[in-house]
Amino acid sequence: MSIDLKGRHFLSMLDLSCEEILAVLDTAKELKSACGTAQAPDRSGFHSAAGSGRLAGKTLAMIFQKPSLRTRVSFETGMTQLGGHAIYLAPTDISLGKRETTEDIAIVLSGYVDIIMARVFGHDIVVDLAKHATVPVINGLSDYEHPCQIMADFQTIIERKGRLDGIKACYIGDGNNVAHSLMLGAARVGMHMTVVCPKGYEPKEEVTKTAGDIGGTTGSKILVTDDMAALGGADVLYTDVWASMGQEDEAEARRKIFRKYCIDGEAMKLADKDAVVLHCLPAHYGDEIDYATSRLPNSAIFDQAENRLHAQKAIMVHLAG
Ligand code: CP
Ligand code: NVA
Repeated sequence: MSIDLKGRHFLSMLDLSCEEILAVLDTAKELKSACGTAQAPDRSGFHSAAGSGRLAGKTLAMIFQKPSLRTRVSFETGMTQLGGHAIYLAPTDISLGKRETTEDIAIVLSGYVDIIMARVFGHDIVVDLAKHATVPVINGLSDYEHPCQIMADFQTIIERKGRLDGIKACYIGDGNNVAHSLMLGAARVGMHMTVVCPKGYEPKEEVTKTAGDIGGTTGSKILVTDDMAALGGADVLYTDVWASMGQEDEAEARRKIFRKYCIDGEAMKLADKDAVVLHCLPAHYGDEIDYATSRLPNSAIFDQAENRLHAQKAIMVHLAG
């Protein structure tokens, strides 16, 4: 499949067509098989096999307004494996929007680096970076979307289920950034997506509408409900923390409201017996997922985490290779 994403930004799952998503996932699979898995790395020429040279001499700037384990380490390691270099910019390093405007940061960084990845509070910040940068900007999580996560999740679903189209996925919990990207990505690739959440914590209406409209053309059914019975026959169960980064003050109140919106033994009984369990991590065991369920053979939560590396390497190769 030949696609050209050179110079493009990746802020939203809507930035890629179905064909482009599948092509990037093909590259991710190729890069993964070239370097072995984290459990069984190809020690003989690990870095050369992992795609070294494809971004030789290139630099990635990584702006973080929030904490991270997976995003920071997988992007930085990915860049090293591709022969490039990554620079971590901690929240206090550049004080985005306080010490300097987003516009000036985008222009200055474009003079030094080949790709900018940013994890931000407001989605408008990644949009603003992309508006003023002359190099590709990647959304490493905003309050609205987490598209890199969903590319890794899609890679994981294909590994476990062989396809995306026609798969029945259920997301249980808060209608947040991860839910948004899942809905928009699912709509693009023809995967059915049901979001089960308490009243008042639904995904943004415009996301549900957009996903529904796109789904109407790709055969993807998009549904939002507060009824856990909607998990019936699901092929994929997905959850995320009830309170996202920046919502820590609401955590206690949310714990009461969200109590039944979790992946546990009861949820597993409702879903298909071979349902894949997904969580973007970090997890709050005992809240949105229980520890025992997270360790079942059906659980692919650590495959997802590993696939962040491969999926993001593929994204960077396509945008800046
Ligand atoms: N899933 C995810 O983005 O993890 P981090 O917050 O650790 O980067
Ligand atoms: N919804 C979570 C995802 C963390 C990877 C958050 O924004 O904190």
